[in-house]
Amino acid sequence: MNIKNLVCLFFAFSMTSFSPPTFSAEEVSSIARGGRLYDKWYEVIGTARPNGTHPAWPASTNRKKGSVTHRCKSCHGWDQMGKDGAYASGSYETGIEGLKRMKGASNVKVISIMKDSTHGYDGKMSEQDFTDLANFVTKGQIDMENFIDRKTKKVNGNLNQGEAYYNTICANCHGEFGMAQEGMHALGKIANRNPWETIHKIQNGQPDETMPALRAFELQASIDILSYLQTLPKN
Ligand code: HEC
Ligand code: HEC
Repeated sequence: MNIKNLVCLFFAFSMTSFSPPTFSAEEVSSIARGGRLYDKWYEVIGTARPNGTHPAWPASTNRKKGSVTHRCKSCHGWDQMGKDGAYASGSYETGIEGLKRMKGASNVKVISIMKDSTHGYDGKMSEQDFTDLANFVTKGQIDMENFIDRKTKKVNGNLNQGEAYYNTICANCHGEFGMAQEGMHALGKIANRNPWETIHKIQNGQPDETMPALRAFELQASIDILSYLQTLPKN
């Protein structure tokens, strides 16, 4: 094979195996920050915890109250599927719809919804915060149904890959067995109990912590890590 063919082959290979994110570099970090805001916006922007229960939180869902009901994830789910996803039952069963219809919608529309009277976020966050949140909703939603079995919660990623990623990216902070962060449950426990939350954190990072976001890499890397976490000790 001559050099020219080799070069062509190389480019063909790199294009298929590393399909680059379809978003600009800046958009990817905005989406990840939007994901952290979606998780716990008041922690990310360093403002006081909201007082009282969110007015849109149904009174019938009385197992949760106070500031937690102001987090997007509490009403719309870690899987953005609301009543049709993991929050179809349990202490976050609100009957509220998910956000899947908003994939590919305009940011303007999503921002106006966040500022409407149901949501009431106007004045509570900056325009940059609203843009990041909207980018997450319109461009950053992942279809977790494709790799998390709803009933068993099991994830079928590549364990060998996942272990290699974990040991090189996560173990510094979380320890070889996922138990090194004080005040936090073992990663094995979290990943088995709530794989939807776990992949959200892997993709977007942890609000107000130095933990990295892996969103710029292929989604498969996060799935492989999640699978590996499910094999770690649960306590
Ligand atoms: C206390 C519950 C609650 C919280 C917290 C909440 N929402 Fe909602 N959201 C709703 C309800 C209820 C609707 C249904 C529409 C309506 O009744 O206005 C909705 C609808 C939406 C929609 C439109 C979905 C569609 O397909 O029409 C978007 C987008 C949205 N919310 C985004 C967000 C974002 C982003 C956050 C966090 C910044 C958030 N929501 C926090 C209750 C909530
Ligand atoms: C720079 C250090 C650092 C790195 C690297 C890091 N994390 Fe974290 N992570 C943290 C900190 C700090 C927390 C918050 C701990 C707490 O809340 O007590 C956290 C929280 C989490 C949580 C949420 C726990 C919860 O209950 O809210 C998950 C899940 C998680 N990390 C998984 C990972 C995975 C998987 C990786 C590798 C892809 C990783 N982390 C890499 C520092 C890190």
